[in-house]
Amino acid sequence: MSSSDDEGSGEEYLFKIVIIGDSAVGKSNLLSRYARNEFNMHSKATIGVEFQTQSMDIDGKEVKAQIWDTAGQERFRAVTSAYYRGAVGALIVYDITRRTTFDSVGRWLEELNTHSDTTVARMLVGNKYDLENIRDVSVEEGKSLAETEGLFFMETSALDSTNVKKAFEIVIKEIY
Ligand code: GTP
Ligand code: MG
Repeated sequence: MSSSDDEGSGEEYLFKIVIIGDSAVGKSNLLSRYARNEFNMHSKATIGVEFQTQSMDIDGKEVKAQIWDTAGQERFRAVTSAYYRGAVGALIVYDITRRTTFDSVGRWLEELNTHSDTTVARMLVGNKYDLENIRDVSVEEGKSLAETEGLFFMETSALDSTNVKKAFEIVIKEIY
């Protein structure tokens, strides 16, 4: 996906990236931390779809990522096929303190594969690294799943910003 609507600004790239994973794993906070450097301890469950556009500079070119965030809860989700359409990157997020969210990763990958039309750069994200003391999924398990499925892997914290920028930018660079 590429676009260039403001003439005279030179070359410009726009990539669609989707964030998926169970409810309350921190998808919306990862996005708000990355795009606006904001975190909300009491954020509400997402209803429908939200997106943010974030630019980064790669090799002197402006690369824009349009990052889509939807509800983890089935009843609040947007039309699935429309959500995935045109996506070239994906963050599949689980919560390192809740094993059930890790167990769901396979299901999210399946949905992504079913609905994506092109090759998608995929990053497995174990979020809430700041809660390491109550961790329920080991780093090794995350790494191993990522290796098996051919995904990038990173543990992040939207709360204290650990690896948030990195996780998004690895995906964006891979697409580019
Ligand atoms: P849905 O929209 O329902 O799919 O949830 P979501 O995945 O968007 O989760 P959301 O970002 O709303 O975060 C859920 C809860 O986890 C909120 O109370 C956040 O403050 C909290 N949270 C998100 N990221 C982190 C994190 O890195 N560390 C900690 N400690 N809490 C987090
Ligand atoms: Mg949300």
